[in-house]
Amino acid sequence: MDTATDAGTAGALRFPPDFGWGAATSAYQIEGAAKEDGRGESVWDTFSRTPGRTRNGDTGDVAADHYHRYAEDLDLMRDLGLRSYRFSVSWPRIQADGTGPANQRGLDFYRRLVDGLHERDIAPMVTLFHWDLPQALQDAGGWESRDVAHRFADYADLVFGALGDQVPVWLTVNEPKTVVQNGYLTGHHAPGRQDPDAAYLVAHHLQLAHGLAVQALRAGGGSGRIGPAFNLHPCYPADSSPEAAEATRLYDGYENRLYLDPVFTGRYPEDVLADLGPDSRMVRGVRDGDLEIIASPIDLLAVQYYTPIYVTADGGTARRWPTSQADWQQIHPDGMYDILTRVTREYGPVPLTVTENGLPTPDTLGADGTVDDAGRIAFLRDHLTAAHRAVNAGVPLESFHVWSLLDNFEWNEGYDQRWGLVYVDYPTQRRIPKSSAHWYRRVIADNGF
Ligand code: FCB
Repeated sequence: MDTATDAGTAGALRFPPDFGWGAATSAYQIEGAAKEDGRGESVWDTFSRTPGRTRNGDTGDVAADHYHRYAEDLDLMRDLGLRSYRFSVSWPRIQADGTGPANQRGLDFYRRLVDGLHERDIAPMVTLFHWDLPQALQDAGGWESRDVAHRFADYADLVFGALGDQVPVWLTVNEPKTVVQNGYLTGHHAPGRQDPDAAYLVAHHLQLAHGLAVQALRAGGGSGRIGPAFNLHPCYPADSSPEAAEATRLYDGYENRLYLDPVFTGRYPEDVLADLGPDSRMVRGVRDGDLEIIASPIDLLAVQYYTPIYVTADGGTARRWPTSQADWQQIHPDGMYDILTRVTREYGPVPLTVTENGLPTPDTLGADGTVDDAGRIAFLRDHLTAAHRAVNAGVPLESFHVWSLLDNFEWNEGYDQRWGLVYVDYPTQRRIPKSSAHWYRRVIADNGF
C-alpha cells in the first residue's frame, strides 16, 4: 500500500467539480516518423543530428513512435481516465518549409488523434508551437526575423481551419523563454546560438507570433479558447540583503514579467527594457502597434511550473532545495502556490491551467514487469497539494497536466531522463504504466486524494 492511498482514505483534498485532469506531450518528443507523410525538417532535426549536441547523439527520428502507435496511446489515456490531453502540432508536418498550403496528410494525422480523443471523452488541448520550427524558416532568419511571426499566424490559421471545430483550447507558443534562454543564450537547445542581442529580439517576435495567432483565431470566427504557455519561475532572494532583493527584482523581470506584462498590460517591463538598453536589437525591434497585438485579449493562461530560482546579491543564483535528475530543477512545491497566486493577484482573474509539472526519475523495468516511481508520486502529490491550496486562495485553476504522459526525447538530454507516467521500453516500444500512473488514475477517479 502506498502513502497516496493513505492520504486518499483521509479524504483530505478534493478538487473543483469537472477539474481537467490531464497529461502533456509535444510532437518532436514523442512522434518519431521524422520522414513520413510529407513532413519537412525542423530545427530540432538539424540540431539533434549534429554531433555533440544531444546526449548519446539521440534524435527524435523514432522517439516513442507515437505517430504509428497513437491508437494504443489513446487507449492508455482512456485507461488513466484523463479528461484533458495536451499535445502539440508539428509545424513541419503541416508546412514542410513553413509556408504555403497545408499538407493534408499531416492534418489528417491530427484529425485522427483529435477524433480519437473525443471518442474517449478526452478534451484535446493543442499547442501550436512546441519548438520544432521548420528548418527552412530558420535558414531565412528564424525567430530573429519578424516575418516568421507572420508565417506562424498563417500556419496557425491552417490548423484552426482544419481542427477548429473540435478543439476547445489552443495554446500558441510553448515557453518562449526557453527558446530565448536555451536556444539563443546558452545554446544547448536548437538552434544552438549564444547571442544575447539576438535572444531578446527573438523573445519579442515569439510574443508577436502569439498575438498574431490569437488574432487569427478571432478573425476566423473560431470558437475555441486561446492563450500562451509560459514556464514561470518564482524568484526569491538568496539572502536578506537589499542587494539580493534588488537583483531578484530584475531577475524576475527576465524570467516572468518579460512574458506576462506585454500579454496582460500591453507594456514590456521598464526595468528589463532599461537593462537591455535603447540600442538593443529587441528595443529597436518593437514597432508601433506590436504591443496591441501581443496584448490581444486571451481566454486563459497556461502555467508550467518546475522550479524556483534563488538570486544572490551579485545577480547569480544559489541552490536551496534538492534537485531532481535534471540539475536545473530544485524541488519546491510551495513555488507552485506562490506562482499561481501571484499571477492571479497581479494580472487578474484570468482562468489558469497548469500545462506542465513533473520530474525525471531513474525508472527501470523490474523483473516483475512493473516500474516503481515512488518519487514521482510524492512529487505530484506535493505539487497538487500546493495547487489545491492556491485554488482555496481564489486562483481560478481549471486543469492540471502532468509532464509527461510518456517517457520521451528530453531535448539535449535525449532519452536518458524519463519524465513519463508511462514507461517506454524503447527497443520494443512497449508501454508500461508506472506506479505513478496507477496512482494518478485513482486521483482522477476520486477527484483528489
Ligand atoms: C519543458 C518543456 C517540455 C519538457 C519539460 C521537461 O520546459 O516544455 O517539452 O521538456 O520541460
